[in-house]
Amino acid sequence: MRTQIGIIGAGPAGLMLSHLLHLQGIESVVLESKSREYCESRIRAGVLEHGTVALMVQSGVGARLQREGLVHNGVELRFAGAGHRIDFAGLTGKSITIYAQHEVIKDLVAARIAAGGQIVFDAEAMSVGEMESRPKIQFQHGGATETLDCDFIAGCDGFHGICRPALPASALKIYEREYPFGWLGILAKVPPASDELIYCYHERGFALLSMRSPEISRLYLQCAHDENIEDWSDDRIWTELRARFATRDGFELRDGVILQKGVTPMRSFVAEPMRHGKLFLLGDAAHIVPPTGAKGLNLAVADVRVLTRALVDFYKRGAIDGLDRYSDVCLRRVWKVQRFSWWMTSMLHRFPNEDAFAHRLHLADLDYVTSSRAASTSLAENYVGLPFDGE
Ligand code: FAD
Ligand code: PHB
Repeated sequence: MRTQIGIIGAGPAGLMLSHLLHLQGIESVVLESKSREYCESRIRAGVLEHGTVALMVQSGVGARLQREGLVHNGVELRFAGAGHRIDFAGLTGKSITIYAQHEVIKDLVAARIAAGGQIVFDAEAMSVGEMESRPKIQFQHGGATETLDCDFIAGCDGFHGICRPALPASALKIYEREYPFGWLGILAKVPPASDELIYCYHERGFALLSMRSPEISRLYLQCAHDENIEDWSDDRIWTELRARFATRDGFELRDGVILQKGVTPMRSFVAEPMRHGKLFLLGDAAHIVPPTGAKGLNLAVADVRVLTRALVDFYKRGAIDGLDRYSDVCLRRVWKVQRFSWWMTSMLHRFPNEDAFAHRLHLADLDYVTSSRAASTSLAENYVGLPFDGE
């Protein structure tokens, strides 16, 4: 098999890259180790930045998103028993859209298949080779080992993929921070208790109210990083959520059937540079952010934008400067998003052994960010998504 761009991974990064390249007349093959059904039902992120939405709409995969996505003009920060709204639309003129990651995946898969694109599901990449000269990917599919030859490899295979580890250790610098807590997340069949997301700081720990539709709530609780989900009965989860979201004026959180529950670890991670020879790393393969800023998917799409432009310049004009600058351009945004995600996480979570002084600092940080227009604007412009170079 041969193609121009060999893409490993059919997550948001791999599929969006394949879609945008196709619109520019560049051919690709996507190899994905899981089945189509698995990829289209995996519950993950839910918040799309305004720029991610615009890209989906402009590139022709935004029709269902525009029909079914929930446009939000702000979020609430809740602490000391009261809520404070951050008005994204008023402060930045922009909004965010709630639309589940697996719905994005469904829309991209459908568009690629309709356009005759090649996504090979149940195809696990085993190795990547000759990254400096004639890149090739060895993969297993239907019991056979096959080889995909390509001009460039796009490593869109997530944090646990094979591309990043395939690089010589001496070629990469890793920056990493693990957090001493995780998130217990549930999907529940109950209308969301608020029209907008609520990020809640409480002495008992962080909690987040989000949603997937007018009938389905998505809620998270800060828990231990090695929390055993078996210890959390549905009753215990609702009792804890109620304690954290309680307000002085009697906020009510209705419970409902829990459709799914799981624990997500929290990590910040960056691998630099994001390119080695003709192999490019995109999305979670190169960087991880804790979910408090809702940035993982959006950052993956931002990498895709940069690589698409560089590859178009290469194939249409023979220019290699875009490819040479790919890593630097991406990393500028990656580090700003890392900073924002780390800051939101630090402000909103309780760390082990925090004393009363630390608690007061959390409250002061939240009081400042919700009462100063400058600080609210800073949060808002990061949350809706920083502008892109050249736009
Ligand atoms: P991925 O979506 O991870 O896609 C990588 C793909 O590569 C996968 O489909 C995988 O099966 C495939 N793959 C891996 N290895 C191989 C191989 N050897 N051969 C072929 N295919 C391979 N972000 C938020 O903002 N909010 C959230 O609430 C949130 N929750 C999350 C929960 C979980 C459990 C996880 C893991 C992530 C979550 N994220 C969240 C982060 C967000 O979902 C990711 O940032 C986003 O999926 C990144 O997209 P990606 O395309 O880079 O990688
Ligand atoms: C979600 O809806 O899953 C979600 C929303 C906001 C976040 C993280 C996750 O910060």
